Amino acid sequence: MNCLSPSILAADFTDLGRQIALVEQAGAQYLHCDVMDGWFVPNISFGMPVLESVRKKTNLMMDVHLMVEDPARYIPDVADCGADIITVHAEACRDLNHAVDLIKERDLLAGVALNPATPISQLTYILPRIDMALIMTVNPGLGGQALVPYTLDKVRDLKEIIQSRGLKTDIEVDGGINFKTLERALGAGANVIVAGSAVFHGDIEENTKRMLEIMK
Ligand code: DX5
Ligand code: ZN
Repeated sequence: MNCLSPSILAADFTDLGRQIALVEQAGAQYLHCDVMDGWFVPNISFGMPVLESVRKKTNLMMDVHLMVEDPARYIPDVADCGADIITVHAEACRDLNHAVDLIKERDLLAGVALNPATPISQLTYILPRIDMALIMTVNPGLGGQALVPYTLDKVRDLKEIIQSRGLKTDIEVDGGINFKTLERALGAGANVIVAGSAVFHGDIEENTKRMLEIMK
């Protein structure tokens, strides 16, 4: 199933509850929450207090993308905040298998993210254990960037591997997805679509509906 995961990084934080309600009413299935630590990526975004508040405002699947160094340290707290999906970066984990254990212990969906230049071979052995692979389609840490074209080749290759191994792993794409690039991302095999600026800049309801229509 295709799911839209609007990224609140592009929302107006003083109006966050209302803007989340708009994407929910318009039919989005997930809500993408980017946690950044100023170390794994240059920027700092938000952490537990925001996740907790967001949880109270929505029934959407809370899709938490941890762009933090050694994310295992925070998995229990993120789970306590009510996350449904927790995604960690392969590049940021000291022990990726253990990080996945921690997510699974809480009965949550586990995702592993790869930066643009990280080869998909990093997922070879962990793939059957995870629910979602997040292929970063821009450099992590900033909204509003242009999609790096070769990352869609990674999506295509990964999709083929998932199918040939008889797995059902979701492929999420994150960064630079807009009305121009969405179809290419879907065509490459992505089924969970993160969109920040394309959803939250302009008419939020209209943008959400338009994206969902293309994803049908
Ligand atoms: C970037 C974040 C993204 C970001 C996407 O590091 O992981 O989720 O919000 O923003 P857009 O859709 O504007 O590229
Ligand atoms: Zn993200």
